[in-house]
Amino acid sequence: MKTALKTSNPVRLATDCLVIAVGAKSKLSEEASEIDKASGKRLSGILSNGDFDGSLGSTLFLHGLAGIKAKRVLLVGCGERTKLSLKEAKKLLAGGAKALLASQAKDAHLALASLTLADADYYWLAERAAQELVEASYTYSTTKSTKAKPTSLKSVSLAAPKGTSKAKIDTAFARGVATGRGINRARELGNLPGNICTPTYLAKQAVELAKGKRNLSVKVLSEKQMARLGMGSLLSVSAGSSQEAQLIVMEYKGAKVKPKANRPAPHMLVGKGITFDTGGISLKAGQAMDEMKFDMCGAASVIGTMAAVVEMALPIDVVAIVAAAENMPSGKATKPGDVVTSMSGLTIEILNTDAEGRLVLCDALTYGERYKPASVIDVATLTGAAVATFGSHVSAMLSNDDALAAELTDCGNASLDQVWQLPLHDEYQHLLDSNFADIANIGGPRAGTITAACFLSRFTKKFKWAHLDIAGSAWNSGAAKGATGRPVSLLLEYLRRKAA
Ligand code: BES
Ligand code: MN
Ligand code: ZN
Repeated sequence: MKTALKTSNPVRLATDCLVIAVGAKSKLSEEASEIDKASGKRLSGILSNGDFDGSLGSTLFLHGLAGIKAKRVLLVGCGERTKLSLKEAKKLLAGGAKALLASQAKDAHLALASLTLADADYYWLAERAAQELVEASYTYSTTKSTKAKPTSLKSVSLAAPKGTSKAKIDTAFARGVATGRGINRARELGNLPGNICTPTYLAKQAVELAKGKRNLSVKVLSEKQMARLGMGSLLSVSAGSSQEAQLIVMEYKGAKVKPKANRPAPHMLVGKGITFDTGGISLKAGQAMDEMKFDMCGAASVIGTMAAVVEMALPIDVVAIVAAAENMPSGKATKPGDVVTSMSGLTIEILNTDAEGRLVLCDALTYGERYKPASVIDVATLTGAAVATFGSHVSAMLSNDDALAAELTDCGNASLDQVWQLPLHDEYQHLLDSNFADIANIGGPRAGTITAACFLSRFTKKFKWAHLDIAGSAWNSGAAKGATGRPVSLLLEYLRRKAA
């Protein structure tokens, strides 16, 4: 999508679609007032018939407004308040983006310079507008015979308040586009069925992403290589599957360092990439089991984030590790009671083969130690308990570092991809005691999200670490079934702050 900053009067702007805000009770924004004046009060006339109530995010197209150069005008409701919260602004932009993309307009101008936000500047709005437009342009059609037709909208321009820097608006818009694309990439990987999106497929996507990029390299470890490293835990998950597990390691080197100076420690992302989770021998019930194709959404978010990091050319180093495997029952599958040895040397009694995410993550985390990372964030659809606790609106977060946890909470608020911290108190650790190994892979029926994080904490003693359980936020069920692309925008917010 091409973008431009325009400061001319919206009345005289030649565009396929002029987007202006109107509040509740027909309260016109500055731009809407100008349109009203130029059209001989036609706008207020239309509003007085009551078809458009200005509620937040509602939309109405107006065609053939006399005195206005634009082909059509799109009204977007900005609600009751004069200063919008970030969530309200997002709702407005998402509503506008959806309507705009459903139209045939080839270009559009967002005349929203008079909107004011309670907690952010206009650059935030510009960035978010771009992100919402890109997100709204995604529909899944890869495995349908009728493909989604490309959207008509090819370029968008933006008005900005006086004193706004053109360069900063351009950057904001470009970053919003990159974030949207990263999210859409994660959604697409998540939505692909398990018979296409296998561990090898994920590895191929990562390799493709690195092609022709000087600062991104990818290596993929085979099961044989993982066995040599002693990853008995990860390999116990793929044992029952005919799909080979893959450990995908992506290294992005963006840090700007003087010659001979040491590179700063990289930040690390680790993603759970179970491309299908049947539960293994501890087989899941049939109900909604298809949704376990989404059990690689952590991995998808990590790959989507890396794509955006590259597109934004962030000046930091980032390492991403994806632990990809399929969890299947078979004659070769791991059985409840089996004891395996992880790469760290800790032995694990696998009491439930459906608690497989932690088994692949622990070896990926141990592998990550070699990078001496400045921080590690793992992302995983780890527990049904996280869905029970939080539903879909926030992701669960647990951390061994309070400052990191506070930072991520803040990033979640700014990116509207929120997290909420759960305690990782020592009192929970004993629930993982085993009579036959150093540690059991489940902690009983209570506090499931916490005990899962306790398990991971045994493998993260060497770095600052946060765990995001996205089991509730990674995809929607029901009629709107599909991956959400979360928490790509949270991770990008975090990495951008590290780069600033
Ligand atoms: N992938 C699931 C978690 C999950 C379940 C995510 C439902 C979203 C919706 C994970 O591998 C799993 O099966 N966890 C078990 C752990 C239990 C056996 C300790 C769970 O949460 O039931
Ligand atoms: Mn499972
Ligand atoms: Zn799982």
